[in-house]
Amino acid sequence: FEHHQIPADLLAWYDLSARDLPWRIGPAARKAGIRPDAYRVWLSEIMLQQTTVAAVKPYFERFVARWRSVEDLADAETDDVMAEWAGLGYYSRARNLHACAKIVAHGHGGRFPPTAALLKALPGIGDYTSAAIASIAFDEPAPVVDGNIERVVTRLYRIKAPLPAAKTAIRRTVAAITPTERPGDFAQAMMDLGATICVPRTPSCLICPIAAHCAARSAGDQALYPVKPPK
Ligand code: ADE
Repeated sequence: FEHHQIPADLLAWYDLSARDLPWRIGPAARKAGIRPDAYRVWLSEIMLQQTTVAAVKPYFERFVARWRSVEDLADAETDDVMAEWAGLGYYSRARNLHACAKIVAHGHGGRFPPTAALLKALPGIGDYTSAAIASIAFDEPAPVVDGNIERVVTRLYRIKAPLPAAKTAIRRTVAAITPTERPGDFAQAMMDLGATICVPRTPSCLICPIAAHCAARSAGDQALYPVKPPK
């Protein structure tokens, strides 16, 4: 299936319809080529690993108001970090967050390593989070794959292998369509598309900015994807 037009169509939609989220920069800054601060990107992506956008927002705002840089967070008391995290769940994330902040602040001069490969060596940062930070904060075209993006991609290409076997094919496909220009906006546009239009049960294909490129849409079987493993 041809896909060279997907990034352009998706980014044009993102420029008009991006969700306004506290860890994102505005359209004017994006247009000026400004990238969001790696500390804010990292913090938001750790919080978003197992928690919804709506639940994360107030926690993110409180964290960045209290600890304005990775050095500030590194020098906080662990108990204070845990108390500020209380309610978000999966508390190993908070322990890894603090450990990671100490390494970046005191081992890397306060600067996050700028590639997905280097980021993956840090506590709490795996395939998804390393790719998200590298693409959003550092413009590396690393393939970002989360649950929403899996759904979008399996529909675009009618990938019929069930999860989790399909993960390798999905990752390769995301790598092939991720543009070298604005890879972080592309990843976040895919997330927004999956969260608001290409939703699980009844996707709004009529208003989808990339419906013209979608194999499932043209076959009319978009509800089948992603294919679930047999029980
Ligand atoms: N979920 C995980 N990361 C996200 C991001 N950067 N924007 C929106 N939703 C997300």
